[in-house]
Amino acid sequence: MKVSESHLLIDAHTFNPYRWLEPNHVKKGGASLGPFVNLAIFSAGVRVCVGWRFAVVELQAFIVELLSNFEFFKTPQIDKIRPEMAIAVVPTIEGESEKGTQLPLKVTFARKGEE
Ligand code: HEM
Repeated sequence: MKVSESHLLIDAHTFNPYRWLEPNHVKKGGASLGPFVNLAIFSAGVRVCVGWRFAVVELQAFIVELLSNFEFFKTPQIDKIRPEMAIAVVPTIEGESEKGTQLPLKVTFARKGEE
């Protein structure tokens, strides 16, 4: 059976920008339990977070502001970053999980108008 024939819509390997434009892109008959149910951050079903769309737009706006105003560079520790399950997935450094969340990046103000 091909991956795309499974009961879930698993077609990440296919170039299809329309997936973001079609609100009901989920394959008919497939599982649809709620927004980002695979991430389990907004819950699902009847108790799904009613603010999830607003929260996602807020995060998108926040990311656009960050990327517009700052530049992010790797540090030597970048290869040691590991995902750790807390309430959400957080980055930690291999062998230093007792220090909690760490994401060692070099951050500078973005150079405006230079390309
Ligand atoms: C990243 C941000 C957010 C996360 C991770 C989140 C997560 C959740 C989760 C997991 C639930 C289900 C709780 C349960 O099972 O009882 C929930 C419920 C709810 N959320 Fe959010 N939420 C977020 C942002 C928001 C925002 C921005 C609003 C309002 C503008 C909002 C309004 C609500 C309401 C009213 C409920 C109760 C829904 C109900 O029980 O009928 N949330 N949220």
